Amino acid sequence: MTHIFVLTNHKGGVGKSTSATNIAFGISRVLAQSNSRNCRVLLIDTDSQGHATLVTTGRNDFGRDDSLYSVITADKKDAPTTLVNCIVQSEWDENLHVLPASPLLEAAEREMIGIPGAPYRLTDPLSRILNRYAAVVIDTRPSFSLMTEMGLLCGTDALIPVEPRYLETVGLQSVIDKINAIREGWRCPNLKVSGVIVTKLDKRVRGHLDTIEKLKSHPYFGKLLCGIIPANEAVAYAHTAHLSVYQYDPNSIASAAYAMLVKRLVRLLVAQEGV
Ligand SMILES: Nc1ncnc2c1ncn2[C@@H]1O[C@H](COP(=O)(O)OP(=O)(O)OP(=O)(O)O)[C@@H](O)[C@H]1O
Ligand SMILES: [Mg+2]
Repeated sequence: MTHIFVLTNHKGGVGKSTSATNIAFGISRVLAQSNSRNCRVLLIDTDSQGHATLVTTGRNDFGRDDSLYSVITADKKDAPTTLVNCIVQSEWDENLHVLPASPLLEAAEREMIGIPGAPYRLTDPLSRILNRYAAVVIDTRPSFSLMTEMGLLCGTDALIPVEPRYLETVGLQSVIDKINAIREGWRCPNLKVSGVIVTKLDKRVRGHLDTIEKLKSHPYFGKLLCGIIPANEAVAYAHTAHLSVYQYDPNSIASAAYAMLVKRLVRLLVAQEGV
């Protein structure tokens, strides 16, 4: 089984795209460093804002014929070929492939509501090419909209980025409930909540440290906590430079934190598949 990590939270600006891009490239890097036979990772951007697409490809002009929009609007029989044709290589590395988002996804989402089988228009073609990839990482938009459901339906491992603030963590249970409801309602038994990633931790802020302590000691959330990413300006500068945080500043604290998180995720892959 190929692991498909879905970064999701209906809260905006919590680090979904930053995490999706750096996790995807991080997994590919670690696999390459350990001479794995397959180091290819596919990053799928389901957010019409296209931030993950922009930073990894340097482009935000994908549209009708060369993006995820093309895949979900293709005839069922053509969708797998369309998917293959729309995937591009990231500027970051040849082993990181990207299925780009398009602003057209915004309208497509409204148009497709109610169309039978609409939520499966990504998972069906994706299942046909999964064996090409060591892992897939999906970025989602800040809402549980149709596009997010499409992403989660493909997924095996939902990862929830959350900022270390009281109200953010209060909302965590509702995000988990929503993912569980999608698993039950849409019958995708492989999907589970595999981790919570705390992002933008500022150790100087007492409330942040308190929140981390509460999360760690929580009987359920504590077990899910799989990464703590510090607030670090290297992340913002890396975005501006269209680079991963590892490439922009390999010595930054965010780079080290993402590398540690990626190591944990790669252990999941290796344990199951021996990639
Ligand atoms: N660890 C970090 N340190 C500092 N800034 C960060 C960090 N992680 C993310 N950011 C900044 O926070 C902002 C939001 O990050 P990002 O776009 O990854 O969040 P998002 O959840 O994908 O947002 P949206 O909900 O709009 O899709 C960006 O400006 C990004 O540069
Ligand atoms: Mg985003």
